[in-house]
Amino acid sequence: MNTFNNLLAQLQGIVGAEQVLTEGDLTAYEQDWRKRERGKALAVVRPASTDEVAQVVKACAAAQVSLVPQGGNTGMVVGSIPDTTGTQVLLSLRRLNRVRAVDAANLTVTVEAGCVLQTLQEVCEKEGFLFPLSLAAEGSCTIGGNLATNAGGTQVVRYGNTRELCLSLEVVTAQGEVWSGLTGLRKDNTGYDLRHLFIGSEGTLGVITAATLRMYPLPASQLTAFAAVPSLEAAVQLLGLAHKYLNAGLTGFEVMGDFALSLVRKHFPQQTVPFAGLSPYCVVLENSDHESESHARAQFERLLEAALEDGCVLDAVVAENLAQARALWHIRESIPLAQAQEGLNIKHDISIAVSRIPAFVQETDALLEQHFPGVRLVNYGHLGDGNLHYNVQAPAGTDAQAFLRDQEGAINALVYAMVDRYNGSISAEHGIGSLKREKLAHHKSPVALNAMRAIKRALDPKNLMNPGRVLSIE
Ligand code: FAD
Ligand code: MLT
Ligand code: ZN
Repeated sequence: MNTFNNLLAQLQGIVGAEQVLTEGDLTAYEQDWRKRERGKALAVVRPASTDEVAQVVKACAAAQVSLVPQGGNTGMVVGSIPDTTGTQVLLSLRRLNRVRAVDAANLTVTVEAGCVLQTLQEVCEKEGFLFPLSLAAEGSCTIGGNLATNAGGTQVVRYGNTRELCLSLEVVTAQGEVWSGLTGLRKDNTGYDLRHLFIGSEGTLGVITAATLRMYPLPASQLTAFAAVPSLEAAVQLLGLAHKYLNAGLTGFEVMGDFALSLVRKHFPQQTVPFAGLSPYCVVLENSDHESESHARAQFERLLEAALEDGCVLDAVVAENLAQARALWHIRESIPLAQAQEGLNIKHDISIAVSRIPAFVQETDALLEQHFPGVRLVNYGHLGDGNLHYNVQAPAGTDAQAFLRDQEGAINALVYAMVDRYNGSISAEHGIGSLKREKLAHHKSPVALNAMRAIKRALDPKNLMNPGRVLSIE
């Protein structure tokens, strides 16, 4: 008790008493976004500078108290909340949120970890640039969280994951030292590239405090189309045509199953979903053009003509203006929220070679229907990246909590066995957290797991950084 009291007093001295929260409603910090779990923090600590983060980490390390870094707490795999012991410090990075510099000639922006993604997008746009990372949680997720999870989102098909957008990092190590690596260099072959260790490490190796990220010139036009397709095979065929006709202009290609869209229609009836019930799948795709809007429209017309002729599109609309484009994207982005409103659910964020996705879905749908009659399959995602959100909702009218308790293990086992058969990944973009930790141990090669454990032990020998997440080192 004394250790904890001494530590709390030290932390108050570092960040100010009002930034060490131990009382009141801490739900926003202690409960995960999907409401799967709730933890209890020793304290929520809110530093405002890299130096304060370093001092907090040092104090916790000296007291042997573990830390859970947290940004916007929008993660999907229970990685950003404390455990239930009441002995972990929840390190909220949200006050560390400055945009430090925009370097127009270098096409880079240097930003602190707690900056909200949408804020960064807006800052870059004001300067005439695009920061292309885009996801439905962009109004609350943070750059630090995006880096720590290597977030994907809806523009990966053109710009890559967060990893590809990051040139350099500033990190507070598990010992409380500051690694200032913010060079903004595109080429730097001076040994191991430490940046790539921290990206995707989900807070288990150190605290990301700032990053230098790539920006791109703003396109002259961004056009969105929404298309009804007769099958998943047809969606893959359309993707091939989109690559051919739009080339680097293809900046988004998302697929949505009809049941996923029906949940949007049910929970957000104010939204107009085109082609309701017309086809088993719809696709939303985006063409970014650096010439002009008319050039982009002409390209889209050629693509859709070819697709209609080939039979891989049944019908399509192209947004006439920005408001319509936003409304079409909003349909896609509303699926996770509609799914959450429908009740607790099982998420499978999987990736499989694009060419094999239709066969995977056909086979796995049939097995799930056979073994778990009545389950509702909520299938949507980033088809352009081979990343499906192949989710399962309890049968209509059943108690979702009881269904998950009784069936989640068996459903996961079935789906992940199929993912293995198709040589895919059990986590494409959401990470591992604690929700998938045991599964990782079964689905990743022992050689890779041993290398990961060796890295964890080397960088965090006391196991104080987000322990129990990603992998167990015992
Ligand atoms: P948190 O949830 O706070 O943390 C996530 C993990 O990162 C935790 O392990 C935490 O400990 C660690 N962490 C956070 N900040 C730091 C830091 N500064 N240093 C070290 N570790 C840190 N994800 C996608 O990839 N693609 C999507 O399309 C997508 N869409 C989403 C849509 C919705 C509606 C929601 C709710 C979530 C979505 N997500 C998506 C998941 C989530 O938004 C991302 O994982 C996001 O990157 C998390 O950012 P965050 O700031 O909320 O991180
Ligand atoms: C998405 O693509 O919408 C997200 O990754 C969120 C989710 O899968 O729920
Ligand atoms: Zn996603």
